[in-house]
Amino acid sequence: MHKHHRALGLAAAPFGNPVADIAMSRPVQPVTLLRPHAARRAARFFAEKFPGRSLYAVKANPSPDLLKILWDEGVTHYDVASIGEVRLVHETLPEAVLCFMHPVKAEEAIAEAYFDHSVRTFSLDTLEELEKIVRATSKNGINATDLNLLVRLRVDNQHAKLSLGAKFGAAPEDVKALLFAARQAADAMGICFHVGSQAMSPSAYADAMARVRDAIVDAAITVDIVDVGGGFPSTYPGMEPPPLEAYFEVIHSSFEALPISYSAELWCEPGRALCAEYASLLVRVEKRRGDELYINDGAYGALFDAAHIGWRYPVRLVSPRRTKVRPMDFSFYGPTCDDLDRMAGPFQLPGDVANGDYIEIGMLGAYGCAMRTQFNGFGTERTEIVDDEPMATLYGGNMPQQNVVTL
Ligand SMILES: Cc1ncc(COP(=O)(O)O)c(C=O)c1O
Repeated sequence: MHKHHRALGLAAAPFGNPVADIAMSRPVQPVTLLRPHAARRAARFFAEKFPGRSLYAVKANPSPDLLKILWDEGVTHYDVASIGEVRLVHETLPEAVLCFMHPVKAEEAIAEAYFDHSVRTFSLDTLEELEKIVRATSKNGINATDLNLLVRLRVDNQHAKLSLGAKFGAAPEDVKALLFAARQAADAMGICFHVGSQAMSPSAYADAMARVRDAIVDAAITVDIVDVGGGFPSTYPGMEPPPLEAYFEVIHSSFEALPISYSAELWCEPGRALCAEYASLLVRVEKRRGDELYINDGAYGALFDAAHIGWRYPVRLVSPRRTKVRPMDFSFYGPTCDDLDRMAGPFQLPGDVANGDYIEIGMLGAYGCAMRTQFNGFGTERTEIVDDEPMATLYGGNMPQQNVVTL
């Protein structure tokens, strides 16, 4: 990994733009641009302003470098969803507290997590999963007495751009029995939910907290942890959410109003919001056909969401010429042989963008980078650290909102 850091006195890019400097080296493969300062800023924001504990949802970006950055900024708890993530985080951050928050786990994964990686926190949404956890963590016929069990409720995902509402979560009619049973098996018992990813309104959390309240009242049970999950948004073209403080206020006031003890803990599991700004991608245009640009990354690279659910990312031309040509809308084709490797956008770029030009695609730190494959022999090997601002931010940096970077 290279560092393009003006503060270190390394080759200063013309006009002080580290991304333009990298484009001048005319990379043949896409280059991943990392902005550790953006991840640090996001972690500090959650540490200072979220009125409880923040668990990083590792699936959003499992890069060990990022895990270490978050750890250094005080993120001590990690939401892991697979035994692969358990092993990775335990190896990278041996002192981190791991919470296995996938409601459907392999019994072997639960046992390994509990006995080999000291995982004590598990989520569940059925009695079968509860039995699985109890079985997998018992030894010589004696049940574990140190489990933290969080029952996941099914909640409305209507405010989310990416629903997670159909697959997981106990239905209202099953919650009472599940809470009773989990209470018997747990040292600490909690309730969790997920409002869906990129929740565009704080009221998503207020609505879900109303479901938590109903569940607690109905079961008349002591709850030690309320975990509001992920779903905190980042900012993308056409998806500009309210400030995160508005989400935190709603969560705080609805948590305060729950019938729970003073010692009950409030948790959240942000993925996207902590790492979206951490990475972007520098791609090259290999061909132009009208308003279609053939670029060297795509659906099987970091642009899965752009291809499959029409997610729009910010883009800018990184060009050695000053262009006065008006912007226009483009779609992208990725490099593989497959027609599905198409990102409809629209992505707005100067009208004279041409074969050989470089484009930065922003806000790919969450999910984008994590979902890359090497399909068809295409991929990304070069990674550079840059210290300029991400193309958009929710954390009050100095955003360069221009669409064109000139050398
Ligand atoms: C259980 C759980 N927690 C947290 C997250 C992170 O969600 P987000 O990236 O929307 O914050 C996810 C995402 O799928 C999840 O499944």
